[in-house]
Amino acid sequence: MTSSATRVVAIDGPAGTGKSSVSKLLAEKVGASYLDTGAMYRAVTLAVLDAGVALDDPAGIAKVAQAADIKLIPNADGSSTVLLDGRDVSGPIRTEHVTSAVSAVSAVPEVRTKLVALQRENAEGRFVVVEGRDIGTVVFPSADVKIFLTATPEARAERRHKQNLDAGRESDYDAVLASVNRRDHLDSTRAVSPLRAAEDAVVVDTSDKTLMEVLDE
Ligand code: DC
Repeated sequence: MTSSATRVVAIDGPAGTGKSSVSKLLAEKVGASYLDTGAMYRAVTLAVLDAGVALDDPAGIAKVAQAADIKLIPNADGSSTVLLDGRDVSGPIRTEHVTSAVSAVSAVPEVRTKLVALQRENAEGRFVVVEGRDIGTVVFPSADVKIFLTATPEARAERRHKQNLDAGRESDYDAVLASVNRRDHLDSTRAVSPLRAAEDAVVVDTSDKTLMEVLDE
């Protein structure tokens, strides 16, 4: 349960809908802090990969997750520094190696139980924009505002492809589209907390909108 001082804006949706950009800007605009829950799933995934645990070994994954110490430290520019057992893993958690393994790790129930508790703890007594997949449905079902961002797979792949190129990473549009479709399928069909819009969420299709248009809406 959250205390009455806790105020949450939940922003959910699949990868590439502009969730992170919208969440960070919105938090800045309304004077709230920002919590990136995907970064937590990515940090556990990195711990699993570092430990050499197989992605089809849910018991091994659960064990690594239970032992992992994850902290998100807010930076002045709205981003967060992610610490895994005291080590700054903000860069490594964004690599393709982690991205392609994160859906398998985030489907393990013990991983979700641990991270949901951590997310509630982080938000306790604060005004916070929380970005994820199950924020409005599971983590904060009584969030003050719930927003679900959608976009066509092609629009989302195009954004990811451009982000990769802008960051100087190699990128192939067709491979990015295939990866977006694969991750959507895994995230929305998993047994625990699948990706879906809460019934009381405001759904915004961002396919043909600029970041500012989405923010205004
Ligand atoms: O937002 P992102 O791409 O950094 O999230 C990485 C993965 O973490 C995503 O494929 C699904 C998972 N995730 C989740 O299952 N629940 C959340 N609340 C946030 C992310």
